Amino acid sequence: MDIAGIAAKLERLNPKIAAMAERLTVSIPAVRARLDREYEQMLAGMEASVKPYRGQAPSFPRLPERGLARDEVLQTVEALAARERPGWRDGLASGAVYHGGDEHIAFLNRVYATTSQVNPLHADLWPSATKYEAEIVSMTATMLGGDTVGSDDPRRQIVGTVTSGGTESILLAMKAYRDRARARARARRRITHPEVVAPTTAHVALDKVAHYFGIKLVRVPVGADYRADVSAMRRAVTRNTVALVGSAPTFPHGVIDPIEDLAAVAAERGIGFHTDACLGGFVLPWARRLGYDVPPFDFRVPGVTSMSADTHKFGYAAKGTSVVLYRGTKLRSHQYFTATEWPGGLYFSPTLAGSRPGALSAACWAAMVATGEDGYLEATRRILETGAAIRDGITALPQLRVLGDPLWVIAFASDTVDVYRVLAHMTRRGWSLNGLHRPAAVHLCVTLRHTRPGVVERFLADLRVSVDEVLSQPTEKEGMAPVYGLAATIPFRGVVRDLLKKYIDVLYRP
Ligand SMILES: Cc1ncc(COP(=O)(O)O)c(C=O)c1O
Repeated sequence: MDIAGIAAKLERLNPKIAAMAERLTVSIPAVRARLDREYEQMLAGMEASVKPYRGQAPSFPRLPERGLARDEVLQTVEALAARERPGWRDGLASGAVYHGGDEHIAFLNRVYATTSQVNPLHADLWPSATKYEAEIVSMTATMLGGDTVGSDDPRRQIVGTVTSGGTESILLAMKAYRDRARARARARRRITHPEVVAPTTAHVALDKVAHYFGIKLVRVPVGADYRADVSAMRRAVTRNTVALVGSAPTFPHGVIDPIEDLAAVAAERGIGFHTDACLGGFVLPWARRLGYDVPPFDFRVPGVTSMSADTHKFGYAAKGTSVVLYRGTKLRSHQYFTATEWPGGLYFSPTLAGSRPGALSAACWAAMVATGEDGYLEATRRILETGAAIRDGITALPQLRVLGDPLWVIAFASDTVDVYRVLAHMTRRGWSLNGLHRPAAVHLCVTLRHTRPGVVERFLADLRVSVDEVLSQPTEKEGMAPVYGLAATIPFRGVVRDLLKKYIDVLYRP
């Protein structure tokens, strides 16, 4: 076994000893110097691609002594936006922009412009903001099966809040479970070390939950079909578990976890179950109506006690909103923050931020009511037809195979070519796809952008050529291939974490 193998084994057997071994190794001056050299080389290559405007656009590392003319500022902003537009408008990006139609954007912009000063923190000044948010939550809840339960009973009502995005929705749901367990613990038994059990494929926001909220995240390997393994999840539950999580669908492979079975395990144990429908919340209800075989995933499943659904993805709102939903007002109240002793006054806040962009809620509400059921149904029809065409096209390429059984987030891997090099060749052709790892794969999340004429054909043609190029130039290394290669072979995860932090540093260099 090589060093990487030994380190990986150590990490599995005893993460504390592995971390200590890493610290010792990395503190050896020669090792440190070599790592720093390698970091610098790799980051220098990346810096050029993430900082293309150096020397090409006005730059302000400090405030201009005199404010610029507004026209001049607008010129700069418009020039940069125009340069970036083809990257997302033409359907070359995975996910990222989910609607992107000119008229739709102009409409959202108009709503934003009308409401740009609104802050829902001041409900007295802007009761319109709370109206919009209450209706966003209610429309999302009814779409996700909330109308099937007794809506007069606060214990069974599906309620929620608007948040800034999928990550915040997940953070808040997990905080609610943690705090509910603490409150229950005071009454009965103590949970001092709350745990959440989730499949390895559930969104990385859960690792952020662990990082921020002192919750232990127990990751459980998925089955051969990339869906959660129900028996393994059941075995991972302990007396400290406060919630289980499943996805509909998962970010990496676009497959839907067996939500009914997982939620039943949670219900048996008297703990929460969260369906992360950030990606699928605004697609799957319509897919079902269109006759696709969609397994139960929402509040129609009795054990589902919370959900996240992103309005800023397939809800076609502007970026910056999502919805977190709960079964019952009591569970939601564990999300809230209140302060009664602050000299600044009595304070309460439903979500993580204090002041919030009410204009984004207004634009979200506008997007939802302007799209309507017929609009979502039609958008979903187009997206799923495009997803099927892309999936079939990839399956027809002998070097690639589609992972799992996806509808519109299509992940592919290869047993014969380096899939990261295929990704690099696609990038050179203007595509912005997502690199995945464990296992090495690439995905395309289909949006309305890809449903435009010619996009599927271009994607499949470019993919075919990219695979051929990789086959004909077998030794070249490019793009993310060395980064993922490094991540796969570096014995210690801390070194990879270090590299990622250095990358963020690069992003913040003016
Ligand atoms: C399944 C799933 N959950 C959560 C998230 C996090 O959403 P956000 O990036 O809006 O925080 C994503 C993002 O793609 C997702 O696909």
